Amino acid sequence: MQILDGKATAKQIQGELSAEVQALKDKGIHPSLTVILVGDDPASQVYVRNKERACQKVGIESRTIRLPKETQEAELLSLIEKLNRDPDVHGILVQLPLPEGISEEKVICTISPEKDVDGFHPVSMGRLLLGQDGFRSCTPYGIMELLRRYQLPIAGQEAVVVGRSNIVGKPMAALLLAENATVTVCHSRTRNLGEVTRRADLLVVAVGKENFVGREMVKPGAVVIDVGINRTEAGICGDVNFSEVKEVASAITPVPGGVGPMTITMLLANTIRAARRACSV
Ligand code: GUN
Repeated sequence: MQILDGKATAKQIQGELSAEVQALKDKGIHPSLTVILVGDDPASQVYVRNKERACQKVGIESRTIRLPKETQEAELLSLIEKLNRDPDVHGILVQLPLPEGISEEKVICTISPEKDVDGFHPVSMGRLLLGQDGFRSCTPYGIMELLRRYQLPIAGQEAVVVGRSNIVGKPMAALLLAENATVTVCHSRTRNLGEVTRRADLLVVAVGKENFVGREMVKPGAVVIDVGINRTEAGICGDVNFSEVKEVASAITPVPGGVGPMTITMLLANTIRAARRACSV
């Protein structure tokens, strides 16, 4: 059984990205990311701090704009429009969730698709589905990169994605399909879930429920990717019962140290790409 070490893989990729950033800087291009955080959600504050730190590590200029939870939607939208016009800003990320009264859909749609480093804009999602060049949502993109670096096969495999969110499940299914997997997407209305997950050669779980997948739901030899980040009294744990499932899987991602570090690394990769495209290099 192989542990898919997202932390180590992310570190390796970040080394490669640092070299890319330096090469761009030598050409006078300084990749930059602006993060907007509205309100005081504690988990979001941690995520945003981690993003700042990761940018710093590879030499990306990062700026975080913190706004009070009372911020009006119109104010936020006009700030995004201003950043869209600023040539020194290559990537824009608005941390979700947003306070009540602000439409996530409107906010996401206002970010220029050229600066949409989260890959959440309808144009990015459409391009992904059509197999066109565009920004890919960081978590699914990070999972694909992890599978690629461990040389795990995708083409022709039975891939089952549990969860159908816009951020993970849907783009995950699209990326696996683009790599020629046979893809099934399960969700809260799926009947006989265990029967479906037991068919998977590659099982991706993104439901946000602690220990949701036990060994009885996993085919012996399957590759299991755990996207869950659940805060429990015992610390952070995933959606997969790790100690059980590691006994049947051929490979599995741990939580923490699996998908999480890859996600943030792909945000860096997307930001560098945005900078390169903005400057046509
Ligand atoms: N909140 C939780 N995950 C994410 C993410 O990947 N991007 C943004 N913008 N907000 C999030």
